[in-house]
Amino acid sequence: MEPTWTIPPDIPRVQLLDRPTPLERMPNIEALTGHRGALWVKRDDSIPIGGGGNKLRSLEFWLGEAEAAGADIVIVAGQIVSNQCRLAAAAAAKRGLECLIIHNSDAPSRSQVQGNHLLSVLMGASFRFVGPVSESERGSYVAQASAELKAAGRQPYIVGDHAVGAFGYVVGALELVQQSLEMPPGSRLLHVVLPGSMGPTEAGFLYGVARAGAPFTVHLISIEYELDEMDSRIDAIYQELCARLGMVVDWKPFTRRYDRYLGDGYALPTAASDEAMRLFASEEGLLLETTYTAKTFAGALDLLRAGVIPKREACCVLHTGGVPALFAQAAEGLVSGIPQSTSPPPEQALKCVPLVKAGVGPGTTSVGEEGLARVVSQLVDQIAALQQRVELLTQVSKEVLIASQHPPARQQHPQQKEQATSMERREFASFCGRTASLPGDAPAGTAVDWEHNDKVAAAAAGLAPPPLPMGVDQPTVPTAASSADRLVQLEDGTWVQPNGPPETVVTPDNRRSFAPFRGKQTGPKPKL
Ligand SMILES: Cc1ncc(COP(=O)(O)O)c(C=O)c1O
Repeated sequence: MEPTWTIPPDIPRVQLLDRPTPLERMPNIEALTGHRGALWVKRDDSIPIGGGGNKLRSLEFWLGEAEAAGADIVIVAGQIVSNQCRLAAAAAAKRGLECLIIHNSDAPSRSQVQGNHLLSVLMGASFRFVGPVSESERGSYVAQASAELKAAGRQPYIVGDHAVGAFGYVVGALELVQQSLEMPPGSRLLHVVLPGSMGPTEAGFLYGVARAGAPFTVHLISIEYELDEMDSRIDAIYQELCARLGMVVDWKPFTRRYDRYLGDGYALPTAASDEAMRLFASEEGLLLETTYTAKTFAGALDLLRAGVIPKREACCVLHTGGVPALFAQAAEGLVSGIPQSTSPPPEQALKCVPLVKAGVGPGTTSVGEEGLARVVSQLVDQIAALQQRVELLTQVSKEVLIASQHPPARQQHPQQKEQATSMERREFASFCGRTASLPGDAPAGTAVDWEHNDKVAAAAAGLAPPPLPMGVDQPTVPTAASSADRLVQLEDGTWVQPNGPPETVVTPDNRRSFAPFRGKQTGPKPKL
């Protein structure tokens, strides 16, 4: 450990972070994975500029170099979903620099202006869309834009030098070592998990850890390349750091590298990354996106579950940010479990076409085929919902009518009666699309036993025996198989079938013409 070593102050740097990023503990994931050492997340996604993320640490040094060179505009390149472009726009805005973003994609339509691109627009960047070209071809557009700007008397700076960007994570690693040292001995971090990608974040982090005497094992989860390629990219940057900052030990002995969480490739989700995204969101309220963080956290989960990271050893996962990309990812169908549409299938919608055609005539607006299909499917949904409500209401009114014509001998408990009526009113209100309380509803603050009310409603619909008034122990009454052959007991103790032949009295002789009784009968009942 070299506690006194810090990045040389003569390296140009601007300040974008004013404090260490927080460590957040994940107790619910610890419980789910059976991990008994602490599981921490280092929240570099929470750096408070432009939506946060790892590239802000690199931008401290990129913009430091830009300002030292007298730049007045920065150029940054990437895909339209690029976090680096968004954060360059944010940091440039903060430092009063202009930002030109070159995207190797086609210009988006208005509805595609979302996620990182939307934020870059808001943060005042200007854009050039050069079509879906390769990274190297994109590089020539960057050089061309820089030359044009210089010719126009501007001072452009091109963001992206890997070694300069890596300085940011040399600082990030030292910051985490310091945070670990502030923990009680015995609970300090022994493992750190981070994504393996282009390399600046990883090489800088490994250099910082090496400088600090390698207090943790670093687990690199490849989210982009196979192991050999990832290793060589990281190593190239690491060696450059050694050349600029001084030689340190080899990084491989204190790292473990994995490409088994990559799945079908960069930016393509896997079942494990889907699970990680959902688990951390639903258990800890921690948001991940599909390209970088979901796979990294999926790898961490697997290493914890499998005991590769020993159960009692404290571990930290670096959250590198990127959450604004989640919205574009969802729009592209990369986030699993989101229904593509809540409309009914087209066959069902087609059945209703004549209905809608009847409504499209002179004086109406043509909505186009797609719009028409949408209207049709909404109508189908609404009609189905209305049909359900009409059926329920018809059933309830039938039962109310029967009950009023044949009041049962067993008097309804006043509270029960009130509840039943309230249910009917509620049904009616909901049928009419009202949600506010109705006159005569229980006054505000009155306790309502909804379970009891449900039983009352079920009884009214003939689906269950009437519930006991709350708190009253009462014998079970016989229940008929359907409302048509329901039996009602009169005051004199006889049983009638109101829907059957008028005033049918059950006697030992005619009892077999009645539907069989269900349930246990403990009170006065027809003798069978
Ligand atoms: C959210 C996020 N995580 C991780 C990375 C990988 O960082 P690096 O390019 O330094 O390897 C990136 C790169 O853009 C990123 O946006």
